[in-house]
Amino acid sequence: MTLHKIIYDTDPGIDDAIALVFQALHPDIELVGITSVFGNADIDTTTANALYLAQRFAPGVPVVRGAAAPLRRPAPLPIPHIHGKDGLGEIERDGGSGKEDGREAHRFMVETVRAHPGEITLLAVGPLTNLALALLLDPGIATLVREVVVMGGAFGIHGALGNVTPAAEANMHGDPDAADIVFGAPWKVSIAGLDVTHETVMTTAFLAALRDNAGDAGRFVWDVSRFYERFHAEEGVTGGIYAHDYSAAAFVVARECYVTRRGPVRVLTEGIAAGLTVQKPASMHAPAPEWDTRPACDACIGVDADAVLELFAATLSNQARAEPLA
Ligand code: RIB
Ligand code: CA
Repeated sequence: MTLHKIIYDTDPGIDDAIALVFQALHPDIELVGITSVFGNADIDTTTANALYLAQRFAPGVPVVRGAAAPLRRPAPLPIPHIHGKDGLGEIERDGGSGKEDGREAHRFMVETVRAHPGEITLLAVGPLTNLALALLLDPGIATLVREVVVMGGAFGIHGALGNVTPAAEANMHGDPDAADIVFGAPWKVSIAGLDVTHETVMTTAFLAALRDNAGDAGRFVWDVSRFYERFHAEEGVTGGIYAHDYSAAAFVVARECYVTRRGPVRVLTEGIAAGLTVQKPASMHAPAPEWDTRPACDACIGVDADAVLELFAATLSNQARAEPLA
């Protein structure tokens, strides 16, 4: 068994919450911190949501507040029609929430990576501002992290390049400057973008089975996904939700379920296509100086979606079997 020590950098967010539940319950994952970032809601909201999720599913894991805005742009406007006014599907919540760790997210990342050289995975499923700030603060961490796994971008494998503009996926669009910094640093980066997340659909039947068979976590996933499923239906995706952020978490523990393509990735930072991710595949030999000077990333271009979904269901169901009977 390989233990993955993860700092989960997140903008919860419904699919972020679903991915957190998986990490909290997977036996090979040790969550060492949850860092918040603006994105699906403002930073106060995403931090409050991270605190709620930690208290309910990952007690004792520090929650650290991150960036309120992108590196070079104002904070974006709220998007309550996707994740709800509270960023978490407007479910009923009981209980309070824990207390924030007093540090800033990017400093927490640097300190934790330096304390555990070669061991920390940065799993980033929101705008990449905190990771870029950590690199700017201490570029040396790039050689000390175990790996970086990102949910973001799209490489047009099944046609899609974006979901918030025709050219940009939400997390890349949220802070394209940060994303281009992160993909240019000399660390091991893997990217799960729309090419695989659009292939990995948690259907209504799948979610209902979790509700009925996977204990508290399964009921939570069902409850929190109701709002998201309505949003998907409005967008023409009927009968389920894309497993965006979970895909990146699944990649950490089950990369054999993914086909990847290697090559440097650039992110357009200006113009109507800001946030567009463009990879120069290793098989392309034409010179491209804006790519050739940068390290290769692994972009996911294929997925065994059935296996990835089965992993999610098994992880939650195994935990439910261990829960005390009500
Ligand atoms: O494009 C999907 C991504 O945008 C996910 O991380 C989701 O949570 C939203 O932030
Ligand atoms: Ca997210």
